[in-house]
Amino acid sequence: MKLRSKDLLGIGDLTTEEISLILDTAVDMKKIVTSGMKKSNYLQGRTVMTLFYENSTRTRVSFELASKYLGAQAVNVAVASSSVAKGETLVDTGRTLDVMGTDMIVIRHSSSGAPHHLAKNVKASVINAGDGMHEHPTQALLDLFTMREAFGTAKGLEVAIIGDILHSRVARSNILCLTKMGAAVRVYGPTTLMAPGISLMGATVCGSVEEAVAGADVIMALRVQMERQKKALFPSAAEYARFFGLNPGNASGAKPGAIWMHPGPMNRGVEIPTVMADGPQSVIDTQVTNGVAVRMAILYLLTGREEH
Ligand code: CP
Repeated sequence: MKLRSKDLLGIGDLTTEEISLILDTAVDMKKIVTSGMKKSNYLQGRTVMTLFYENSTRTRVSFELASKYLGAQAVNVAVASSSVAKGETLVDTGRTLDVMGTDMIVIRHSSSGAPHHLAKNVKASVINAGDGMHEHPTQALLDLFTMREAFGTAKGLEVAIIGDILHSRVARSNILCLTKMGAAVRVYGPTTLMAPGISLMGATVCGSVEEAVAGADVIMALRVQMERQKKALFPSAAEYARFFGLNPGNASGAKPGAIWMHPGPMNRGVEIPTVMADGPQSVIDTQVTNGVAVRMAILYLLTGREEH
């Protein structure tokens, strides 16, 4: 089995079989990531460009490492010092990379739909590494992979997503991915940070942290995205932490053996306290490691390869 599309733009475009294919392939890729010899030649002779118009640590670096571990050439376009600063359009930048022989372009952009626009205009495969407030599909896939490692399957899991739902492409991709794979998703956050229509995506909107986490297998805290707020949508970080942040008390209604997740970067003490982020139920570091394996699987499969 192969992926049908040349691009990976959103979870909505993937079938359940394709999601399983990516995750199953990532199981083998993780063996490379955790081995003493992080090297293979599956993508030898291929070139992967990372083109990030927004800041990133985890996603950009993991794509670069994923490319290198697969034997591809990995090149980062430093957008701030590129010809983008002289006004070059996204399509012209993409076409320039295309005719240099790029096989895959990994793009993060503040505008929702920018990866889709690029994908229509280049021959290279385009991977959405986060577009505005729309989707972050590779994050949802690595989150699902992490849940599958912890519980064996996503089917039947109860997942609580807490925080800034409005601005969160991670929440949107996770809701789409988890509900597609048979999990139930509950969300809670400040009313001012709750996305209208989120229930139409299949999530249940709750009235408190306690209600959202009751009986949950997974609690996922989201980063408060101050950079996307044009005006203050909550009074202060301290107040956010008190009413909307996780703490051992309000998380105590989760199932025994529940795991805590966060896509990062964290605002420690706001969305999640250090005692939880660094505690035994946290899989936040595992999410980061799994991000490399899942992105290796995506790069591998987008080159037309079948399951490893
Ligand atoms: N989770 C995530 O997208 O992190 P970065 O912004 O560091 O890539």
